[in-house]
Amino acid sequence: MLLTRAPRGTRDILPPEAEKWRRIEEKARELCRLYRYGEIRTPLFEHTELFSRSVGEETDIVSKEMYTFEDRGKRRLTLRPESTASVVRAYLEHNLNAAPQPVKLYYIGPMFRYDRPQAGRYRQFHQFGVEAFGSQSPALDAEIIHLADQLYRQLGLPDVALEVNSVGCRRCRPPYREKLQGFFREKLESLCPDCRQRHGTNPLRILDCKEETCRSHFREVPTLGDNLCPECGSHFAALQEGLKNLNLPYRVNPFLVRGLDYYTKTVFEFISPRLGAQSSLGGGGRYDDLVEVCGGPPTPGSGFAVGLERILLALEEEGLSKEEEAPEVYVASIDAGALPRVDLLLRDLRAKKVSCERDFLGRSLKAQLKQAGRSRARLTVLLGGDEFREGKALLKDMATGEQDTVSLDSIIDAVLDNLDREV
Ligand code: HAM
Repeated sequence: MLLTRAPRGTRDILPPEAEKWRRIEEKARELCRLYRYGEIRTPLFEHTELFSRSVGEETDIVSKEMYTFEDRGKRRLTLRPESTASVVRAYLEHNLNAAPQPVKLYYIGPMFRYDRPQAGRYRQFHQFGVEAFGSQSPALDAEIIHLADQLYRQLGLPDVALEVNSVGCRRCRPPYREKLQGFFREKLESLCPDCRQRHGTNPLRILDCKEETCRSHFREVPTLGDNLCPECGSHFAALQEGLKNLNLPYRVNPFLVRGLDYYTKTVFEFISPRLGAQSSLGGGGRYDDLVEVCGGPPTPGSGFAVGLERILLALEEEGLSKEEEAPEVYVASIDAGALPRVDLLLRDLRAKKVSCERDFLGRSLKAQLKQAGRSRARLTVLLGGDEFREGKALLKDMATGEQDTVSLDSIIDAVLDNLDREV
């Protein structure tokens, strides 16, 4: 059992599915090229302290979900639960603050969180994310949101909903925190055990609670939106102007606080109506204090990340990603004498960027043709028998059933022609 099952919360991605992943990743990379984000690849593990300090000791991610271990040199290390902290660390380590700002970076890769696995929630999952440093502009936040929105749209998920909020800054959040603590103080008995603890350590996270007992107070609770300082208020107004300008529909969700402590001002989340409980398709926001928290000079930042597994799930719900990639050509052999020529033909077709396949199990001709049909190849080339001895092959269009005898000298051209490709 242990040897034949991947660890709980992890999965293998097999060729037909990996193909869908590749398409999503390519789309993400293409968007990053257009929006001018450069790729960064950071280690899969970092010093534990990087995450506990940046994501926040009190967050679920740090307090419950990290894969932390001691290596043989007694260092405390953690498999990255997210990448923003790693990118901030790299930004400082490589003095990117000395480069022209904003510095715009993106990443695609696995993250690790020890959470209870369920549909859309894994212990090893994958994110595509972007981070931009060195600008406080709400227009940059709007541009990041636009990039994310384009990704969903271009992949075929038009009904993803955008929620935005502002979580203020170090000036307006502390007084709001106190207000919130005051509000919940006489209601402590009615809060869930988690929120009773959050009340003392991180009362804003109460607003993120899914328990009905806690949510029942939300109608009267003071919202941060009504308690922002003038600077955060006008930043939030400008963000909304920017979104309207880009024609991006959004909803202000005053309870959106997100599960990581580093956010300041803008926070946002994309919600899919197709994902059930794990409905967050991606999210992000601004983190103007984070570089400083990690030991650097005051440097604003903003970013977002999306879970690739969740995009795939949403696409499946849409019924859009079922198709497997079919080969363009299946090359069948009538007898073993033709096999060396089959291999040359495969080599030459691949050199012309045609995807093609042959049998490697010594199947009969009938079984090969069945295999060709099952693979949904567009064309089948048959080599062997009298025709082969006369220097010819049979070319069959699998959709129409039409067959042609083609001279072996011109078979590549005939295939390309049938595939509507440049000869
Ligand atoms: P996050 O909201 O924790 O933010 O994760 C972003 C996305 O990763 C989620 O919306 C979800 O799609 C996906 N995700 C999270 N946990 C899991 C899981 N256990 N299984 C599958 N998918 C998951 C961040 O990580 C921030 N670093 C985003 C950010 C970047 N903020 C600013 N810059």
